[in-house]
Amino acid sequence: MTTTDLTTATTGEAVDLYDPDSYAAGPPHAAFAALRRAAPIHWQPVAAGPAAPGYWAVLGYAAVDAVLCAPELFSSERGGVVIDDLPPDRLAQMRNMLLAMDPPRHRDYRRPLAHRFTHRAIALLEDRVRAATRAIMSETVERGAAGATVEFVGEVAGQLPTRVVGELMGLPPADWDYVHGLAQLLNRGQDDDYGAAATDATSSESTVPAVPAPAAPEPAAPEPVPPTVEMALYAAGFAARRRTEPPSEDLTSLLLAGDFGGRTMSDLDYGSFFVQLVTAGNDTTQTMLSAGLSALLDHPDQLAALRADRALIPGAVEEILRWANPLHHFRRTALADTELAGRQIRAGDRLATYFTAANRDEAVFDNPDAFDIGRSPNRHLSFGKGEHFCLGAHLARLEGRVFFEELLTAFRGIERAGAPVRVRSNLNNAFKSLPVRLTPA
Ligand code: HEM
Repeated sequence: MTTTDLTTATTGEAVDLYDPDSYAAGPPHAAFAALRRAAPIHWQPVAAGPAAPGYWAVLGYAAVDAVLCAPELFSSERGGVVIDDLPPDRLAQMRNMLLAMDPPRHRDYRRPLAHRFTHRAIALLEDRVRAATRAIMSETVERGAAGATVEFVGEVAGQLPTRVVGELMGLPPADWDYVHGLAQLLNRGQDDDYGAAATDATSSESTVPAVPAPAAPEPAAPEPVPPTVEMALYAAGFAARRRTEPPSEDLTSLLLAGDFGGRTMSDLDYGSFFVQLVTAGNDTTQTMLSAGLSALLDHPDQLAALRADRALIPGAVEEILRWANPLHHFRRTALADTELAGRQIRAGDRLATYFTAANRDEAVFDNPDAFDIGRSPNRHLSFGKGEHFCLGAHLARLEGRVFFEELLTAFRGIERAGAPVRVRSNLNNAFKSLPVRLTPA
């Protein structure tokens, strides 16, 4: 039975996990649960296009864990990490990114960066993250937030990762919004509202977009420059400028001077890392903050509990990550014939590790559909696991905690001012609009 047949039989509704429209009203949790209860993995057929003939939808917690923790068998590099197959040149370019490297090369590139992202190193950034957050809250008040409708996603939540990633990379503040805008376009190629991005991606899922080869000729036709290309060109120019300046404490200096398996980074390597760090750190965090507020508004008792006791905020951030995980899945490609949860996987098969389903596996989480900020333990998989575990997890957690602390301090009242609107995507579990009314403290 395919995913569609089975969900029709069990929920009365055919659900195609590949179709972005299946996520229009929110993730199809009932279908995920019905499928997961029937078996931890299922074949999702795809009739045509870059994901045909289909892929294994890995839904059970233990099965997702097993795939993520076996990079020697389930590769990020072979077919990249988005479910659609890419043309060879774009795949080759994607493989310049940490996210799409297999060991041992992956370890050569991750090791020099890891010390900048430890819990300890990130904790040192707290004062800067708090200053940036307070500035965002004050600007929101100054813009006349009282009584007016605020577009929370872009005007408030999206501002924090823009500034934090900008500082981390050492970008000039004047460029932060520009870079954030490009990062947003890159992640939203399946949504017609972000038309420019659609021209970018051969894959419709551009979390990890490719960087063009430096010698690629500029197109003669007056086509719009895809955001991937624009960001990579920006990064190359920035790298060239920074190579002429004395090194500083930011990640750009580290990347440009680092030893990655016996070699230093070219401007092209830097461009790939830049695009990955900026896109990985921007949209996901914006989603965590906006989806988090939305979840709290839907659970006013828990919002009140947070207001009464700020010590509950770190647990609330974990529950937001579990319950409203910003990314639905990543792809792996099987390198050899193998068996997974009783199913025969062939070398070359695609697999999608659905964090959205694994995070609600009743074998691991009690009452998994309930949003519970006191949940403990909370071993969600929203940052992945194993070899590619999110490098920015401590940073994202710090941003989440500080953001909600400062939001609740700055505003004594937060209420909805309209219906939220979701991004059309089978990968990004994101809102593009979350209108709220804020009452300053
Ligand atoms: C709520 C926010 C975030 C979420 C949900 C998230 C999610 C993830 C996930 C699921 C992976 C694993 C990918 C895989 O297994 O194929 C990952 C990897 C990664 N993330 Fe994050 N991320 C977030 C924030 C950040 C931030 C703030 C940064 C840095 C500024 C960052 C940088 C990275 C990098 C560099 C990788 C690749 C690591 C590797 O391949 O070794 N992420 N992220």
